[in-house]
Amino acid sequence: MSDTDEHDHSADEHSRRSVLKVGAVGAVAVAASGGMTAIAVGAETTLPPASTADVTLRVNGVERHVTVESRVTLLDALRERVGLTGTKKGCDRGECGACTVLVDGERVKSCMTLAVMEDGREITTIEGLARGDELHPVQAAFIRRDAFQCGFCTSGQVMSAVACIREGHAGSDAEIREWMSGNLCRCGCYPNIVDAVRDAAKGQAE
Ligand code: FES
Ligand code: FES
Repeated sequence: MSDTDEHDHSADEHSRRSVLKVGAVGAVAVAASGGMTAIAVGAETTLPPASTADVTLRVNGVERHVTVESRVTLLDALRERVGLTGTKKGCDRGECGACTVLVDGERVKSCMTLAVMEDGREITTIEGLARGDELHPVQAAFIRRDAFQCGFCTSGQVMSAVACIREGHAGSDAEIREWMSGNLCRCGCYPNIVDAVRDAAKGQAE
């Protein structure tokens, strides 16, 4: 490396540090002048107590009374308060469909709705589909068609398929693919999932 290179390098380093310093000072200055009240540097912040609400969730035909913070999602209420862990948390931001449940018969991504918003509604989860030892036709079709590998997406796929068929959106493979497109499968079991949904839809039509 030449002297000039070394000089250039240290000059770059110097200017980079300067920028970082200026940036940090600027950020604090902006925070201070912006009227932000929850900023604390090097000190613990204390959040105000969250408001809670008494909610009645009618899950799989059983009334469940829970007291939850108003920011708790339906997904977390089901898994952590009601104890039904068949509904899975994948992305927790509405992208994968692993958390799909039925609310008043409509498919809903339970990570995208708050428990307090579903007060008094009829919620069906994967645990509520079978009748005793008898699987729901969609569950049976998924097993028959080997429509899963790791199974993480499967409860969401099955709930979505139940609604897809009920909505009348399972008339062709292309339609099934389109109307099931909100449910992702990282194992790539899509062909088998489509087969299973088609079978179940045919079975219900016969
Ligand atoms: Fe709800 Fe992914 S966990 S959409
Ligand atoms: Fe593994 Fe779908 S079966 S993610």
